Amino acid sequence: MILAFDVYGTLIDPQGITTVLHDHLDGAAAADFAKAWRDKQLEYSFRRGLMGKYETFAVCTSQAFAYTCALFNLQLEAEESELIMNAYAFLPAYADARNGLEKVRDAGFRMYAFSNGSPEAVDRVLSHAGIVEYFIDIVSVDEVRSFKPDPAVYGHFLRRASASGNSAWLVSSNAFDILGALSAGIRAVWVKRKPDMLFDPWGMEPTLTVHDLDGLAQKLNDSI
Ligand code: 2OP
Repeated sequence: MILAFDVYGTLIDPQGITTVLHDHLDGAAAADFAKAWRDKQLEYSFRRGLMGKYETFAVCTSQAFAYTCALFNLQLEAEESELIMNAYAFLPAYADARNGLEKVRDAGFRMYAFSNGSPEAVDRVLSHAGIVEYFIDIVSVDEVRSFKPDPAVYGHFLRRASASGNSAWLVSSNAFDILGALSAGIRAVWVKRKPDMLFDPWGMEPTLTVHDLDGLAQKLNDSI
């Protein structure tokens, strides 16, 4: 069985940037900034995908950062912005990532990282977080120049992993990613990291739901 792990939001914590933002914003504002930045980054990826105006996810991230600075009226020197953008390249993994991945690998699943990020960016962030070793390969949307949830990127994953919809699962905390995979005929595990996370009411449900990656191997084994 083949597993495609989403990266940002599932293995790697985009809110981890908050610690660096604390140099410029107080506690709650830093967390709000990080959330607004992440939402805008994804919005830019969706819009670029729809418009056929592909630029890398790093460009979406950097343009979303500029937008969020304007939104929060945060004026930074060029070096300060550079420092924050560099920190984004080395975001931390969630606390449960390593243990969870270890259990899934021990259970015999074939694991891929599957992300909006470029192969280089994903390799860098997973290596820095000490979890790159769990993956057979990194599959990036950059190879087809579109973004999740374009059906083309899920088809690309299946081709790259030599998998069929029946033999592959997506693992993601991002509800839009789960819906994208299900629409493309791939089963999907939603990692519902917080009780207040909502799933979109589109008439489709995740194949499985787990609360963290620690419980993933067991849940998959029980369902197969
Ligand atoms: C990823 O593809 C959606 O940001 C998420 O890694």
